[in-house]
Formats: sequence, C-alpha cells, structure tokens
Amino acid sequence: MSLAVTSSSTTISGSSFSRASSDPKALQICSLRLSDRTHVSTFSQRRLSTKPLNAEPQSWVTRASTLIAPEVEEKEEDVEDFEELAKKLEDASPLEIMDKALEKFGDQIAIAFSGAEDVALIEYARLTGKPFRVFSLDTGRLNPETYRLFDAVEKQYGIRIEYMFPDAVEVQALVRNKGLFSFYEDGHQECCRVRKVRPLRRALKGLKAWITGQRKDQSPGTRSEIPIVQVDPVFEGLDGGVGSLVKWNPLANVEGVDVWNFLRTMDVPVNALHAQGYVSIGCEPCTRPVLPGQHEREGRWWWEDAKAKECGLHKGNIKEENGATDLTPAVVQDIFESNNVVSLSRGGIENLLKLGNRKEPWLVVLYAPWCPFCQAMEASYVELAEKMAVKGVKVAKFRADGDQKEFAKLELQLGSFPTILLFPKSASRAIKYPSEHRDVDSLTSFVNLLR
Ligand code: ADX
Ligand code: SF4
Repeated sequence: MSLAVTSSSTTISGSSFSRASSDPKALQICSLRLSDRTHVSTFSQRRLSTKPLNAEPQSWVTRASTLIAPEVEEKEEDVEDFEELAKKLEDASPLEIMDKALEKFGDQIAIAFSGAEDVALIEYARLTGKPFRVFSLDTGRLNPETYRLFDAVEKQYGIRIEYMFPDAVEVQALVRNKGLFSFYEDGHQECCRVRKVRPLRRALKGLKAWITGQRKDQSPGTRSEIPIVQVDPVFEGLDGGVGSLVKWNPLANVEGVDVWNFLRTMDVPVNALHAQGYVSIGCEPCTRPVLPGQHEREGRWWWEDAKAKECGLHKGNIKEENGATDLTPAVVQDIFESNNVVSLSRGGIENLLKLGNRKEPWLVVLYAPWCPFCQAMEASYVELAEKMAVKGVKVAKFRADGDQKEFAKLELQLGSFPTILLFPKSASRAIKYPSEHRDVDSLTSFVNLLR
C-alpha cells in the first residue's frame, strides 16, 4: 500500500483509510501536515496488517492460515473481561475512556460518526493526542446540512472520513420494488437494513472495536442500560465469530446538555439543522424537528412505536421478547399491583371496547410483567392510579402477552410493550398514548386533555 499525500490531507491509496495526526497544530496547517509525513507513514506501515474498513472478507485460505498455532499465545492475552472493565470505567471521563479505547485497539478501532455526539468523540480523540480513525455510513438519504457537517469536520481535524456506501444492487432492487418512501408504509427496518446495517456490518468486519456516541438519556426505552464498553452483542469484528468485536460508548453516562456545553466550549462544527429545532438527526425523510419538551428521539421515525426506534445499528439495545417469554407466569411476578389499578380480564377489556358512553374515562396499560420497559414505569403508573382515583378516572392493566397478544395487536393497537390506552368518557375509540415519557406528569396531562 503506498502513501499518497495531498495538500489538505493524508490518505492511503487503495483504501479509504485516513488518520489524524496527533499534533493539534498540524491538524490545521497544511505545510506542517506535510512535514509530519514521517510520523504518518510510520504509523501507516505499522497498520498494514489491519484490514481497511472496506476490504472484502478474507478468503477461507487466508483465514485458515491465521488460525494455526502462533495465535494461541496472543488469544490468551486478548481475553479480557469487558463487563469488569465497564464497571471500572463507570466514573471515568469520556476523555479517559477514549484514551483507554485508543490505547487498547490502536488502528483497529474507529469512531462511528454521524452527529453531534460523534463530533464530541472526535474532539476527545484529538485531545488524547493519539491517532484515530473515523467512519460514516452514507445512506444516500442524508440532509444536505449533514454532508456539510462531514466536510467541515474533515477540514477542522485534517482527516478523511472513511465513508461506507450501501450496495448499489440492493438499493436498486428495494427502490424499484417498493418506491423511494416504502418505510412510511411498511416500517423502516428494510430500508435501514440495506442502507445502514449491511454497510455497517462490512465496516466492522475490518475492525476489532468501534466507538459510538450513544447516551443512556437518548432513549429511556432502548438506551437506558448501555455500558461504557461491551462485547458487541450483534456484530462481528475482524477475527469473525461471536465476541470478536468490542463496542465502546464513552458518552454513555453523559447527559445531552453536557455534550452541547462541551461542543460549544470547544468551538467545533455542528449540524446547521440543530438551529432549526432538530436534535437527533438521521436520514432526511425519517427525521424531523422536535417541539419544546418533546424527547429528542420523537423526531426520528415518528410514525412508528417507540420500541422500533432503533435502526439496527444498535440492535443489541432492544431486549428481545423471546427468551423472556420463556419465563412462566409462575416465576415472573406480576406488576402494577395496587388497589387503585383494576386488573382487566379479556371480557372486561372487550366490554370497554364495545361501550360508546362510559360512566368514567379509563386509562389502561397493555403490559407483560417480564418486559423491562413495563417494569420501569411501574412506580409512576401506580402513583398515577392513586392520583386519578380521586378524580373519577379508572386506571387499569391488561396483560397482553402470550395468548392475548394477537387479540391485543388486532383490537387494541398493541405495537410493543407497554402500550397505554385512554378510553375517554364519550368517544368510542381508544386513544393510544404516543410518547415514550411515562412519568406521572406526562400521563396526567394526557388524561386531563382527553378525558
Ligand atoms: S440510530 O441508530 O438511531 O441511527 P443515532 O442517530 O442515535 O443512531 O446515533 C447513535 C450513534 O450511532 C452515533 O453516535 C454514531 O456513533 C452511530 N451512528 C448513527 N448513525 C450513523 C451513521 N450514519 N454513520 C456512522 N455511525 C452512525
Ligand atoms: Fe432508510 Fe429512513 Fe433508515 Fe435512512 S433512516 S436508511 S431513509 S429507513
């Protein structure tokens, strides 16, 4: 692989590999970057054994040859308890975490870049003084402002982002069969799979670790438990197989407001869409601004259920119902147990559905006791029931997993657990609670406005 130096960046021909210099001054001044050539080329030569992000999977022959004896010693060294490490790093700053990640994985780790959090990651990486790599998934459906951000970031840090593109044949087939906006009709999973997940899978096959900008407070539904570092539960890395990839989330414990304070303080580029009310930004057709007080992810795939708001890049965040449903009712303790919460049978909820004029409004949660999202809202729902008892609103629960699930999907608008329905006094149709905010105040407003 030869080194090709341009006036504004350093690239390696034959791959989209790029690397930032560790010298902050050199990051911005072309002449200094060129004089930094020795440093870059030494590092590049060192990484020749690493596959570039866009490399084709290794052939079986090469793969087999790497499995022979000399690897054994290295493997033992590699075994690391990442759960333990995550615990140790729980109180570490993002800078310390980034430093540790880059130190451990060198040129076999890369930052997944798309939004504001990821600019913060790049800034932290720069501050470590260590070289780092950055990749991005260009879905072909991003906003013009996002492409401008990518360009500004490349210029600010003197890097080339390693872009991954979807497979042209797959995109062509999808669009010819289903049109350009099929995701509004049958969900975003298929398009995301083609435009994001498969390119990501290809990227990760050239790495041993990746770094994401996920935060716990980004989504109470799906991200509240993300660890600082974990063995990637979904994707494979360079060595192939389960456990071959490590995922770092240095901002897991950082709140959105602190990310923004950091970005402002460091005076780094951000997406111009933020000034127009956008918070979490993905593809153009699937992202919209949020209103004051709305949760940031409510602007993503807004026509779908909260639980579906993961595009597959971070599928491991979604707790599968399989497995959990294996637990029999005998071993799973019921939830929402309070004198103020009426437990509805199938007949009971069918009656509620039939009645046009009810004596009082009813709020009903469709739940499964094993579901962590239902468990997370238990305290607030019980408190709400207590409050509503004196206001003449009935608060109830209907267990909608197992045999009842099909019925609940067909008749009760069940998408994912928990689904909360308000049966107003006079309207015949139940109104589904549309938000991920399941705190007492938000639910109270919903009931008061629509009862
Ligand atoms: S998404 O799964 O809903 O699209 P989100 O936008 O919250 O993800 O971003 C979470 C993290 O995923 C980002 O901080 C970034 O590390 C990674 N990511 C998201 N979109 C992309 C992309 N297009 N290219 C590379 N990484 C991405
Ligand atoms: Fe397709 Fe929307 Fe997913 Fe982008 S976010 S890949 S446009 S479904």
